[in-house]
Amino acid sequence: MMKLSDKKATLSFSDGSAPIEFPVYSGTIGPDVIDIRKLYSQSGMFTYDPGFLATASCESSITFIDGDKGQLLYRGYPIDQIAKNCDFLDVAYLILNGELPNPAQKTEFDSLITHHSMVHEQLHFFLRGFRRDAHPMAVLTGLVGALSAFYHDSTDITNPRHREISAIRLIAKMPTLVAMAYKYSLGQPFIHPQNDLSYTGNFVRMMFATPCEDYKVNDVVERALDRIFILHADHEQNASTSTVRLCGSSGTNPFAAIAAGVACLWGPAHGGANEACLQMLEHLQANGGVAKVGEFMEKVKDKNSGVRLMGFGHRVYKNYDPRAKLMQETCKEVLSALGLEKDPLFKLAMELERIALEDKYFVDRKLYPNVDFYSGIVQRAIGIPPSLFTAVFALARTVGWIAQWNEMLSDPDYKIGRPRQLYMGSAVRNVPAKH
Ligand code: ACO
Repeated sequence: MMKLSDKKATLSFSDGSAPIEFPVYSGTIGPDVIDIRKLYSQSGMFTYDPGFLATASCESSITFIDGDKGQLLYRGYPIDQIAKNCDFLDVAYLILNGELPNPAQKTEFDSLITHHSMVHEQLHFFLRGFRRDAHPMAVLTGLVGALSAFYHDSTDITNPRHREISAIRLIAKMPTLVAMAYKYSLGQPFIHPQNDLSYTGNFVRMMFATPCEDYKVNDVVERALDRIFILHADHEQNASTSTVRLCGSSGTNPFAAIAAGVACLWGPAHGGANEACLQMLEHLQANGGVAKVGEFMEKVKDKNSGVRLMGFGHRVYKNYDPRAKLMQETCKEVLSALGLEKDPLFKLAMELERIALEDKYFVDRKLYPNVDFYSGIVQRAIGIPPSLFTAVFALARTVGWIAQWNEMLSDPDYKIGRPRQLYMGSAVRNVPAKH
């Protein structure tokens, strides 16, 4: 629970109206917040903060980011310790429940997720309504939204048990849906989940196996994807998570709220950056490669060109994204295990990174590589097509979305999200008599 600080904030006005005092609350770590909830009733004014640059929209105990230090904590644990010591379902349990599972809890949770991974046969028909060349994020937005039509037994959002069942269903079924979207785009048969495999191993098999032969999951590929899932599991109040909270705040069902999160994640400024980053590298490679990097960087720095260095910069991190370091490590491991060390795109990425980290433009603006800079190269090496990268991100982020949604609904003070505006349209006017 946030605690009232000894400090108070006072807002004074230049027109002589009486100053207003606001309470200040402190969290466990991180900046204090000024509680402005009474501002409108006391002053008749709103705050103005498009893009939420200085607004805390909720109280949360799940994830903490210190953007200046480049620190990321899940439930207090540093991301590098988590990535090195846990698997994705440990992380899912931690994010949902607040503590790492003991061995008995882990066995029970893994089994629960494993036994909810099949999807209703009707969903196959739903999927078949899409064009084969549909973007996987369009398919996923539709499929996740459609889940709400299948689980009328668990959509009472005021019932904590229902919320728990929905969380399990979503986390368990997401890999199946993503793999189905991929298989559908190829025209290959869907591969059903197999219960003796790990969460990530099962996803790899559903993606790459065919019914024609046995399939052995490659350990390096499984470990790399598991790390991608861990690093993307939650990230505080980012755009898609805030979307899930805002959508869920109206009391809608969890499948609809998560579908809204998937739709938001799709954009290139957010989850779509991994796909956009790989497209950028491929475009550069096809147009001169490393020799043309300098020229490309000049375009990136020119505001009029509209070109951004994808995979660089972050709203919160003004230091190296700690996930990017871990992803770089995985990238090296995967390329070496798969014999792709000389991969030209990886070389190109390293060269872009080297220049950007030394260039005054990037240094002055504190622009560092983010996790997507490397995750695209890893996924491509594994055999995942760029159009599916963001769907893989959505699969992992489902854990964070559903945990944040559940946390919001468990908070007795939660209210429907309803921002206000500064109106700049016409003042009142009359419709002309005849027009
Ligand atoms: N390339 C070139 N210049 C950049 C970049 C970039 N990737 N990112 C920011 N800048 C510049 C801006 O032009 C601006 O310069 P100015 O101060 O001279 O006007 C300054 O740095 C600040 O940028 P903003 O856009 O104001 O920062 P904001 O916090 O709003 O944006 C964002 C963050 C959207 C991530 C941005 O850095 C970006 O577009 N990056 C590329 C896309 C990307 O990789 N997104 C992934 C985000 S991480 C994730 O979702 C997992």
